[in-house]
Amino acid sequence: MASEAPRRACPQIRRARPEDAPRLAEILEDSPETVKWLPTDTAADTSLAGTLLLVSESPQEITGFLLARQAADEAEILNIAVRRANRRTGVATALLLYALKELRARNATRLFLEVRQSNAPAIAFYCRHGFCQVGKRPAYYRQPSEAALVFERKLTG
Ligand SMILES: CC(C)(COP(=O)(O)OP(=O)(O)OC[C@H]1O[C@@H](n2cnc3c(N)ncnc32)[C@H](O)[C@@H]1OP(=O)(O)O)[C@@H](O)C(=O)NCCC(=O)NCCS
Repeated sequence: MASEAPRRACPQIRRARPEDAPRLAEILEDSPETVKWLPTDTAADTSLAGTLLLVSESPQEITGFLLARQAADEAEILNIAVRRANRRTGVATALLLYALKELRARNATRLFLEVRQSNAPAIAFYCRHGFCQVGKRPAYYRQPSEAALVFERKLTG
């Protein structure tokens, strides 16, 4: 019996526009694992120095977003989330690869992020993409209280 082919998306990645805000809020609302960083605030002003807000698009809809910021040669992923129905199809990978290219072009050399220690899917995603754990912040998150794991990926070499 033929095995089912893996679902792979080929999303278009672009910078967010202000009119994307409601769709980003929906994705955030449906992602309780993640922090409530409000990309919608940032969408109104993606020209803010050091801010990068990307969205992934299928022909039908926005499927995910990535929010990062950069200061000098250090960058941080503040949030990344994918519409539940579109997960495990490569959407976050496409967003991350686009962001890595952008951040390198802006001379970032180190990329950091924090993640709840119980967020196994996100941790698996980051490890798959070459991030290494470099720290732990006990009781960093609230509701529920939980440690943050700090991950880093070098952007050089
Ligand atoms: C974490 C998240 C962004 C991953 O998005 P995604 O589009 O599903 O990820 P991808 O399809 O690009 O996955 C790439 C690889 O990451 C790993 N991965 C992703 N999700 C995984 C899961 N649930 N379990 C195990 N590994 C996983 C796998 O190695 C996967 O490759 P594979 O599908 O070929 O096995 C998504 O699960 C999400 O939106 N979660 C809620 C928000 C969140 O927790 N954000 C992180 C904030 S720090």
